[in-house]
Amino acid sequence: MVVKIGILGCGTVGSGLLELLKNYPEIQVQKVAVRDLPKAHNLGLLDTALFTKNPEEVVTNPDIEVVVELMGGIELTKKLLITALNNKKHVITANKDLVATAGEELFAVAKANGKTIFYEAAVAGGIPIITNLKQSLKGNVIKRLFGIINGTTNFILDQMKRKGASFSDALAQAQELGYAESDPTNDVDGHDAAYKIAILASIISGKKIDMTKIYREGIRNISQADIKSAEKRGYAIKLLAIALNEGDELDIRVHPVFVPKEKTLANVNAENNAVMIDGSAVGELTFIGRGAGSLATASSVLGDLLMLMNQGANISSQFMVAPHTEEAKLKSINDVKNPFYIRVSMHDKVGVLKDLGLITERNNANVRFIDQYEIKGDSALADFMIDPISEKSMKQMLKEIQELPSIKAVESIIRVLDV
Ligand code: HSE
Repeated sequence: MVVKIGILGCGTVGSGLLELLKNYPEIQVQKVAVRDLPKAHNLGLLDTALFTKNPEEVVTNPDIEVVVELMGGIELTKKLLITALNNKKHVITANKDLVATAGEELFAVAKANGKTIFYEAAVAGGIPIITNLKQSLKGNVIKRLFGIINGTTNFILDQMKRKGASFSDALAQAQELGYAESDPTNDVDGHDAAYKIAILASIISGKKIDMTKIYREGIRNISQADIKSAEKRGYAIKLLAIALNEGDELDIRVHPVFVPKEKTLANVNAENNAVMIDGSAVGELTFIGRGAGSLATASSVLGDLLMLMNQGANISSQFMVAPHTEEAKLKSINDVKNPFYIRVSMHDKVGVLKDLGLITERNNANVRFIDQYEIKGDSALADFMIDPISEKSMKQMLKEIQELPSIKAVESIIRVLDV
């Protein structure tokens, strides 16, 4: 079977795909829309006549059966893909922002046209998590999903741990290596991970997720002192994207977490990604690998394309689309319970630990340990960890701690993984 495809965008992933397609003569590229023609011509991967600056030539081309979208962006891209679907083309996309924010609208257009939208490459690059959740793991209720799904932040945290680098030095290095963009907001503030966890949560719940309601905290405030304290206490700090399927409610959030060192997720290094799921039948499974990059992400795009070709006309437009008739009820962050790591700087004087103890007691927070260190003159630091309490109680406790005359500052509060 021969399939004729058109591609929107020929950057990192697009050129990786063209590279892989050299071994697939049955997949014929008809047109590739790019922003920069000379740059595309210089790639030397395709007959230059096949490149165009006009994406309409791809999405309305009567010869093209599948449109592969690798250009990114939301508004223009959405319009183009709607045109492609209305022109009876299947769509494959790597665009997490688009799927997370406008997926429902696109799926409805796909359904109306009897076409499919595949998006394996949109989450965790080369890790085949979406197809596995939708196919091989379909016989499970996925109760918990934890992801390290932003490679840039994982790289930064790993550099801070291994090299003792500050956040800004590690970020500069990530930028030099091309992981982080010059404006790193999307990665370091957790937006990218939030898009991806919204997509995964919608698959495991079968419900619509309102992106704007996802609690999100990035890694800008993680300091070398946090990294060292975590290390000393047997943890690694990771930016986790979490989806807990609690029946009526979904608890979805992105924030830094103290992960016990013995957990697989604590040992996912450098720019790698990982997704750990806990299925009702299969138990725990962890997928680890490249979450970005040219060939790794193109591997997921090509996988979608080959799946589409294998299933041909029999493929149901519903296959990659959960029912999504209902809006998910997201748990308020105030009700979420976690253990917490807290570091305070304080005056080293008689009774300060008693004062702290009275506050933890009043807020029903059981202290796992408390350790005073770096005692210099009348100043000291103290690390302590408490058993799970709600975020609401945590905020109240924090307020009381900050008001204590013996406390100089609350230096850090980080949630602890407790599974
Ligand atoms: N910027 C992302 C990351 C890759 O660092 O994982 C694309 O989603």
